[in-house]
Amino acid sequence: MSTHAQLERQLRACGQDHLADSLGSNPALADQLAGIDLASLAALIEKHVRRPDQPTLATDLAPVECFSTVTTPGRQVFDPAAVARIGDRLIRAGKLAAFTVAGGQGTRLGFDGPKGFFPAGAVTGKPLFAFFADALLGAGDRFGLVAPWYVMTSTRNHQQTVAFFKEHNYFGLDPADLFLFPQGEMPSLDIRSGRILLAEPGRIATNPDGHGGSLRALHRSGALADMIARGIEHISYFQVDNPIVRVIDPVFLGLHVGEHSSAEMSSKMVPKAFPDERLGVFCQTQGRTQVIEYTDLPDSLAHESLPDGSLRFSAGSIAVHLIGVEFVQRLNTDPDFQLPWHRAEKIVPCVDPDTGSRLNPFAPNAVKLEQFVFDALPLARRSIVLETSRQDEFAPIKNATGIDSAESSQRIQTARAADWLEAAGVAIPRTADGTPDCVIELSPRTASKPEHLAAIDLPDAIAPGQHIAL
Ligand code: UTP
Repeated sequence: MSTHAQLERQLRACGQDHLADSLGSNPALADQLAGIDLASLAALIEKHVRRPDQPTLATDLAPVECFSTVTTPGRQVFDPAAVARIGDRLIRAGKLAAFTVAGGQGTRLGFDGPKGFFPAGAVTGKPLFAFFADALLGAGDRFGLVAPWYVMTSTRNHQQTVAFFKEHNYFGLDPADLFLFPQGEMPSLDIRSGRILLAEPGRIATNPDGHGGSLRALHRSGALADMIARGIEHISYFQVDNPIVRVIDPVFLGLHVGEHSSAEMSSKMVPKAFPDERLGVFCQTQGRTQVIEYTDLPDSLAHESLPDGSLRFSAGSIAVHLIGVEFVQRLNTDPDFQLPWHRAEKIVPCVDPDTGSRLNPFAPNAVKLEQFVFDALPLARRSIVLETSRQDEFAPIKNATGIDSAESSQRIQTARAADWLEAAGVAIPRTADGTPDCVIELSPRTASKPEHLAAIDLPDAIAPGQHIAL
């Protein structure tokens, strides 16, 4: 059978007659469909579009045990200095790479451009990507070696991102230590029929396949092979939206490779601020760690509290992981490896396949299928979770306004810098309620932990209303 006839048959078998009918007149369509796994599409449409069901939760679901650098009841305490020495050695030996997932569509933020370009610096207005570069350069100053940086983009923002790095002179990094690659795509499906939507006549609408797609994309792109060639053993995974993420963290790395872990996939968490906070929650089932998305956690569990009033399921995921290179290799060589797909309803402008007219829907018309990276956690044999301080490491920019916006992120950045500076002896102006009466942008090149400030020339005081970048 010719390739064309085979493709046509596959399309009809998964309910895509509208595409099969136009194959002859659209040779480019065949190219676009080449990257899509049509063999499994019929089952995905049935499961996620035609008969979407509520995810079932394990009956033995229990809160996860966490390590902590603060002595919180119920959390496992450990010796951070001893663990940091182990991580420190691995970083100095060049065993750690940084990895940013930056392929998302950033619809909630509504910023005109890839999210990594977003001006997150309260004083300098520097983009998110510059924060991570500064974190790598700062760690380079401290550990004597700059870790290579892998950035996952999407097909729609890849060229733009490559150009942005070049325009900014790679933010001071050596371009030989940067590896940018696009993630996989999934077809966007009509919410009622499951038909693949058309973005233009003869061109299907697609969406990036989720941050979980990174585990395959690392392999497919050659990034994993590049890591292996460099002797990298562990990957510091983080999202593009958190300017204060601790990109290189010896304590976390030391725990990740330590006796309690399989060094396959580890995570950081912060206690949830309130029951309905939109954070996935770390849980345990059958001895394995997993994250339940906030949308999938029943109200009864989200609100369940312990005798001391704290939440029973409180370990909120901040999407910071350490992932073993061997683990990613193992997953990619396992023929049965497949992360689950999650369904999201979206508005996708498209053309009517029957009339060719443009449709600009106001309500969700599409199902987007995505994989989540944390679904790889149960595949790890033993996986540790480290509690960290929210103010020190988590100030995400997801929304245009309100919670998790640029404004809230910059407020957290100033509060964190003010506390660290005050501890280092700098007088901070504060309003009656204790809020810093100034705006401080602290570069991760200067400090990613309070103790790094000891090595820096600091002002004696910051003036009320002052805007200062350090
Ligand atoms: P979000 O869940 O915040 O999604 O991604 P998003 O697409 O960026 O934003 P919204 O939901 O449309 O507003 C969390 C992280 O995962 C990355 C994002 O770039 C961000 O760093 N991501 C998400 C990918 O790299 N690829 C994806 O397909 C989805």
